[in-house]
Amino acid sequence: MAHMTEWLPATPENILRAAEVLRKGGLVAFPTETVYGLGANALDIHAVGRIFTAKERPAEDPLIIHLSRRSNLKQVAQSIPALAQTLAERFWPGPLTLILPKQPAVPDLVTAGLNTVAVRVPAHPIALALIEAADVPVAAPSANRFGHTSPTTAQHVWHDLQARIDILLDGGPTPIGVESTVLDVSSDPPCILRPGGVTREQLQAVIGPVAIWNRQTPPSGGLPSPGLLERHYAPRANVIFFLGSGEPQVQLALMEYLNALLAEGKRVGALALDREAEPLERQGALVFRLGPDVESAARHIYAGLRWLDSQQVEIVLCRDLGEDGLGLAIRDRLQRAAVRVIRV
Ligand code: TXA
Ligand code: MG
Repeated sequence: MAHMTEWLPATPENILRAAEVLRKGGLVAFPTETVYGLGANALDIHAVGRIFTAKERPAEDPLIIHLSRRSNLKQVAQSIPALAQTLAERFWPGPLTLILPKQPAVPDLVTAGLNTVAVRVPAHPIALALIEAADVPVAAPSANRFGHTSPTTAQHVWHDLQARIDILLDGGPTPIGVESTVLDVSSDPPCILRPGGVTREQLQAVIGPVAIWNRQTPPSGGLPSPGLLERHYAPRANVIFFLGSGEPQVQLALMEYLNALLAEGKRVGALALDREAEPLERQGALVFRLGPDVESAARHIYAGLRWLDSQQVEIVLCRDLGEDGLGLAIRDRLQRAAVRVIRV
């Protein structure tokens, strides 16, 4: 493949070109409704190998396979439990990744040697058109260097991967902003391995009780996926995450901590909802505004972490936004980005 990355607007012609590059074993970064993915033909071992090299991702971290339609599930999944069928009908295309028994045709490299495979149908017109035209299942992790913050714009992908990929399809900022929900349907009750774009409430409305993996107790014996354990989603700055149920108390603790850091002469950034930004700014923090609510916070959180890095802050302060809706995914990402969690 060419060793020059083409950064292209996602026009119909460029999508077709990118699909051809995918078919020939190339790497294409493309927008999904969650974050940008770094795609390769999932059935081509050499192409999949290039994903791990480009991202500097350890081989024990399995990839998600993206399909353009539910009816192609048989290509990658050996069997489809009734519960998975129900969920796929209700939530696909959408930000729900199902863990299913793997088809032998899927290379072990994709699944890190597990006998299960992670699959989803993304709800983004560019992603769907690309996969449909490529006519192959597309393995795609988030298009960032391993362990870094996920990319929600083409600029983010460029910053992390540049010449390591063949085509970057630019489709503007991604609408949801945090990754898909990873759900293990083999355990009883089904278990969320990674909270994401489809909320626990939405899942429970369709299938009843859903557990959340708490990182201490694997859902069904053994570690479900090594990649879920690492410190992850992290910017260069040290993130300090404040966790507690009383919003005023948490704000107060964060403010005191900020003052102590500023007194030491530290350059401090903060992620805050619009209504909370002003007092932090007045105190001397560089604040990235997340918008008015949890949905906008999810959409902007990774851009905020990257922007604060570009401003060379040493420390980023942020707080929990609760566990309702996308709050749970935000909590998971910030907790894993953090060098320190302070419980108030
Ligand atoms: O929204 C998303 O899911 C994005 C877009 C591009 O689709 N993709 C994404 O991929 O976030 P990645 O590779 O950054 O995260 C995939 C997660 C990892 O935590 C991995 O461990 C888990 O899915 N995973 C993959 N295969 C698995 C399996 N067979 N069993 C359990 N977990 C699995
Ligand atoms: Mg990732």
